[in-house]
Amino acid sequence: MRIIVVDNYEEMSKRAALMITSQVTLKPDSVLGLATGDTPLGMYEELVKLYNKKEVDFKEVRTFNLDEYYGLDPENPQSYYSFMNKNLFDKVDISKNNINMPDGMVKDVNDFCLLYENKIKTLGGIDMQVLGIGGNGHIGFNEPNVNFEAQTHLVNLNEQTIEANSRFFKSIEDVPVKAISMGIKTIMNSKKIILLANGLNKAEAIAKAVNGKINPSIPASILQLHNDVTIIIDKEAASLL
Ligand code: GLP
Repeated sequence: MRIIVVDNYEEMSKRAALMITSQVTLKPDSVLGLATGDTPLGMYEELVKLYNKKEVDFKEVRTFNLDEYYGLDPENPQSYYSFMNKNLFDKVDISKNNINMPDGMVKDVNDFCLLYENKIKTLGGIDMQVLGIGGNGHIGFNEPNVNFEAQTHLVNLNEQTIEANSRFFKSIEDVPVKAISMGIKTIMNSKKIILLANGLNKAEAIAKAVNGKINPSIPASILQLHNDVTIIIDKEAASLL
């Protein structure tokens, strides 16, 4: 694991955007794995800035998102689909046909998950996967006590995650209790991984993920076994390392 500690959120976002830009410059039809949440917002802003300055384009880029709430209409403003459109896809020249997101309204979830996995494989696998981390060490929506062998699947969100994500909804009752998420195996099959974290509330999860025992109770700890992970964190998130 390469660990890059930067001064603040802005630096973290810029570093991550530069890594993605380099990836896309070297391979214009890169397959990117994308994340949602507050953490990567700044990175998307930087990417849009770089795109506007013509330093990168997304014409041939293919994307797969990590996760989506189950039961939420894509048009719902809280869906990850809406998040991605608003913060990246609507602002750059990516082709809509090259965007892949788990479908939160799908009837046959198992079938959908298999198709999602197959499509990732058919396109040659994920070249660069961006991850945030939950305060409980989750990646994607792979909650503690995860099955490290799982691929894309339907997950039950745990209380801590529902509470953390309730800030985006009118009330905690509105937060979906299930999601479709890439599994740990899907994530581990990515060629390169960048994990971003900022703030004191991520310090414990980062310390456990980086220095703790590899353990299903901290899903991100499995990343210790991946051979190309870059962790970009601010000083606060690094404070327990
Ligand atoms: C969410 C997402 C994760 C994200 C994490 C942290 O539940 N499913 O992909 O990394 O929580 O979110 P945030 O960046 O808002 O702290």
